[in-house]
Amino acid sequence: MTKEKKIAVLGLGYVGLPLAVELSSSYKIIGFDISLGRISQLLKGIDETLEIKKKKLQSALKKNLSLTNNYNDISNCNIFIATVPTPITGNKKPNFNPLKEVCRIISKVLKTGDIVVFESTVFPGATEDICAPELEKNKNYLKSGKDFFLGYSPERVNPGDKFHTIDKIDKVVSGQNSKVEKVLKEIYSKLTRGKIFMAKNIKVAEASKVIENSQRDINIAFINEIAKICNKLNISVYDVLKASSTKWNFLPFQPGLVGGHCIGVDPYYLSHKSIELNIDPKVILSGRKTNDEMPFFVANIINKKLKKKSKILFLGMTFKEDVPDLRNSKSFDVIETLKKKKHNLVLHDPFVFEKKYGITEFEKIGNKIFDAVVIAVPHKFYHKQISKIKLFLKPMGILFDIRGKFRSKIDKKIEYWSL
Ligand SMILES: NC(=O)c1ccc[n+]([C@@H]2O[C@H](COP(=O)([O-])OP(=O)(O)OC[C@H]3O[C@@H](n4cnc5c(N)ncnc54)[C@H](O)[C@@H]3O)[C@@H](O)[C@H]2O)c1
Repeated sequence: MTKEKKIAVLGLGYVGLPLAVELSSSYKIIGFDISLGRISQLLKGIDETLEIKKKKLQSALKKNLSLTNNYNDISNCNIFIATVPTPITGNKKPNFNPLKEVCRIISKVLKTGDIVVFESTVFPGATEDICAPELEKNKNYLKSGKDFFLGYSPERVNPGDKFHTIDKIDKVVSGQNSKVEKVLKEIYSKLTRGKIFMAKNIKVAEASKVIENSQRDINIAFINEIAKICNKLNISVYDVLKASSTKWNFLPFQPGLVGGHCIGVDPYYLSHKSIELNIDPKVILSGRKTNDEMPFFVANIINKKLKKKSKILFLGMTFKEDVPDLRNSKSFDVIETLKKKKHNLVLHDPFVFEKKYGITEFEKIGNKIFDAVVIAVPHKFYHKQISKIKLFLKPMGILFDIRGKFRSKIDKKIEYWSL
């Protein structure tokens, strides 16, 4: 394919926006999103996901990046990269609606020779079995693999991680044929200084991503189970992990609440496929169950240790540290369980000030005194404020440090608990 590459990135969230901005250093990029609100904010230079700084976004917008919510604006593009969400339904089944919808949008502007690449996390086979038929519902009867072509390149970006950024990490890329592979290799080589790994085919690339996240989920689930055992034994899982880590091949996973829309979701895509293939995904689903139960395990310990209805300062609402993302955050399960036990909670998160969650600004906590402080998410902000946080506790109050990140900063005067 020698003709000029005109690239559209569809879905400008945590994955799509950094991709569009980074690629715009080498190509003219049109970023498309169905959310007018998101487009309007981005045009003002505001990225609510905090992945792209205002200056960088504005500079890209002045050069090669344009943004739209009108599909007519992408009709001249010949490469479409879809980075839309792949959530799960209420009964934990893959929800392909956003992917199917983006395919329907692309199908309206699809032309002979175009390439459609998916970056959303799916199960092996989804690009060819679910996306291609939607794309083929185009008015010109263009067929996948004959008239237009498919690619898949999983995204590994890790929100809040300023080290493993998309311009540095190795990227797995796949295409429907060798010509497509060549085009995609060229494009993605401009994105990252890391290596481009050409997967054997699209299914292999899809499988590679969904097993990465499922493996992480299972490994954390194992350590969460160990944390429960240690808790009964009255020893600290962190002391155990420190000792075990002295072995050369011990894997350094930590216990914690597994939320968000990747690690806690993607294993359901894999298990869904596994069930379709008549293979009982015992390990995958057992890991999910263990991790989903953790917030209730933690809340019940807090409740038991407090003995009576208590005033609790609850710190950290997002699904992990230093990101503003509340989706599928397990803090909510802990909070709801504590509320059901009639405790009185004041909530705080440095990234979230939305009234609907009743979150208090840190300064407004004032000089209130609490029976307990729960640090659910160890944001950098709390590390800086730890001396002040300790002062919120009444004498003999308890600090519940779910992730055990403040262990070294706690003096003997405070009763302390961590996983
Ligand atoms: N966030 C991560 O850390 C991460 C990492 C690796 C892979 N992924 C995967 O990447 C995909 C995207 O995740 P994300 O975190 O960027 O999601 P996101 O929710 O942050 O962003 C998705 C964007 O797509 C838009 N959108 C939804 N439907 C659309 C449509 N039909 N057409 C155009 N735009 C549409 C939304 O308005 C939103 O702005 C998911 O499959 C996810 O599993 C995410």
